[in-house]
Amino acid sequence: MKLEGASAIVTGGAGGLGAATVRHLVGMGLQVAVFDRDGDRAAELAKELGDAAIGVGGDVLDDDDVTAAIDAARSLGPLTVLVNLAGGATGAGRLVARDGTPHDKAVFVDTLSMNAVGTFNVSRLAAIAMSANEPDDDAQRGVIVNTGSLAGLEGKAGQVAYGAAKAAILGMTLPMARDLAPLGIRVCGIAPGTIGTPLMVGAAAHLKHDPSEGVLSPKRMGHPEEYALLVEAIVRNPYLNGENIRLDGGLRFTAK
Ligand SMILES: NC(=O)c1ccc[n+]([C@@H]2O[C@H](COP(=O)([O-])OP(=O)(O)OC[C@H]3O[C@@H](n4cnc5c(N)ncnc54)[C@H](O)[C@@H]3O)[C@@H](O)[C@H]2O)c1
Repeated sequence: MKLEGASAIVTGGAGGLGAATVRHLVGMGLQVAVFDRDGDRAAELAKELGDAAIGVGGDVLDDDDVTAAIDAARSLGPLTVLVNLAGGATGAGRLVARDGTPHDKAVFVDTLSMNAVGTFNVSRLAAIAMSANEPDDDAQRGVIVNTGSLAGLEGKAGQVAYGAAKAAILGMTLPMARDLAPLGIRVCGIAPGTIGTPLMVGAAAHLKHDPSEGVLSPKRMGHPEEYALLVEAIVRNPYLNGENIRLDGGLRFTAK
């Protein structure tokens, strides 16, 4: 896939994994639209990267905001790469709490929405823009990388909302790849374990939890750059398609 002069969108681009991915893609020669609900942080990162990036504040659930991000990316070059990272947990909780109260329904719906609906929404609109690209020698025009989580495969107690949302994202990978193959667009998913973004480092400290527990090797949290390296491998390898890839140092989640 021709990356020189091409553009990318990173949703959640101002976040921990997002910023590392934006920097990495710029290092690969791509121009990047940093799309994030936190427009100030997106603009700050873009400013730091000069002409290679543009900050777009907005919500992945809002079609006008998504269109603005797509237009911004296309003003930099043909939109060739989409990395869906916007999301996260909106609140943990067991299906029935220890005090007997049921899980908050709105939290469940919101978590599904910001992760799964957001990924679906940006992908469907970005794919149309990618379909206008000149195909390469393999008849490929673009690539979408979705971000699930180990919680989507083996969610812990208290992760029913986040686990369901991330499972939905991982479940989109193959049907999206099948839907978009005629347009020459590949789709892969990444299921990260525990990656040391400021969010995760803060959460581990707050919960007094050793974040490397259960990781086989290397015995530490992942570095955000290691996520970005996997994005690069997916983007560069034309034969990777329709697959979710774990990035977890061999970690397997246990019940708690
Ligand atoms: N860090 C990890 O260990 C880890 C592990 C598994 C999965 N993930 C997933 O990777 C993604 C990034 O994680 P992170 O640790 O960098 O978190 P983060 O909170 O630093 O980044 C998420 C970014 O998404 C943005 N965002 C949230 N909702 C949005 C919306 N509706 N529209 C636009 N932007 C929105 C936030 O403003 C934030 O900048 C998340 O989806 C998270 O669930 C992270």
